[in-house]
Amino acid sequence: MNVLITGASGGIGMELAKLYAEKGHTLLLAARSEEKLRELAEEWTRKFTIETHIFKSDLSKAGAAEKLYAEVKAKGLSVDILINNAGVGLFGEFHKTDLVKEQEMIQLNITSLTELSKLFGREMVEAKQGKILNVASTAAFFPGPLMAVYYASKAYVKSLTEALDNEWSEHGVQVSGLYPGPTSTGFKDAAELDNSKLFKNGTMKAEAVAKITFIEFMNGKRQIIPGGMNKIQSKASRLISRKTAANIVRKTQDRV
Ligand SMILES: NC(=O)c1ccc[n+]([C@@H]2O[C@H](COP(=O)([O-])OP(=O)(O)OC[C@H]3O[C@@H](n4cnc5c(N)ncnc54)[C@H](OP(=O)(O)O)[C@@H]3O)[C@@H](O)[C@H]2O)c1
Repeated sequence: MNVLITGASGGIGMELAKLYAEKGHTLLLAARSEEKLRELAEEWTRKFTIETHIFKSDLSKAGAAEKLYAEVKAKGLSVDILINNAGVGLFGEFHKTDLVKEQEMIQLNITSLTELSKLFGREMVEAKQGKILNVASTAAFFPGPLMAVYYASKAYVKSLTEALDNEWSEHGVQVSGLYPGPTSTGFKDAAELDNSKLFKNGTMKAEAVAKITFIEFMNGKRQIIPGGMNKIQSKASRLISRKTAANIVRKTQDRV
């Protein structure tokens, strides 16, 4: 099968890509770091005798998702599995955080993910088969003071994912959401979370998140929450008021 993974140059996306490589799938790897993608593609092509294609793509820019789709088509490739993994966060009070960074986050986490889901998803619907995995976060279950736009973007991903799965299951297309909690990757630094408590209470390894995800996603699971604590927190979100939830999140990720 042909598997397109965005944000495949590091973290959870790279670990997922490796698992698909080990199983012999054809990989379409997208991210901004072309050199890193090339290195990974060469290593996996050699090690696992697979076909790989790399796509340099900055999905925080308007039009980038359509450009990526056009490049995939230009190579004559179809996509059986789409993993919308690329995403960023940003820590800080909403009145102080950088507007441009948040505009780019919305473009990456929301707009590009939506566009790729539509462009590749409608071909899957036509083919009556295919799978999409949208990487959200446990943040999707809560309002997120001090990371307001990030939490809101992941709530969007959760809602879109559940709606598309409802529409497309009858057409043979699975749309699943991945909801990881804090995970050791490049995310913390990129989100400027150094002064936050969020990553001080233990994290999962990206490799472990990817292993659980690969098995559950390929088995058809629609809501994938790796890790016991993350499962409990997501369930607990339904039992408390939104105001209490916002207060708890604020405390959890306040400055050290
Ligand atoms: N780590 C966590 O604690 C955590 C928790 C919950 C959810 N998540 C979600 O998991 C997903 C993967 O994050 P991660 O933790 O693996 O972080 P990461 O190590 O920082 O990886 C992010 C990936 O996305 C790519 N990316 C970033 N900006 C991009 C852009 N503008 N265009 C294209 N690709 C871009 C990066 O590659 P380039 O820099 O080469 O472009 C990289 O491959 C994200 O959606 C994140 O929100 C992470």
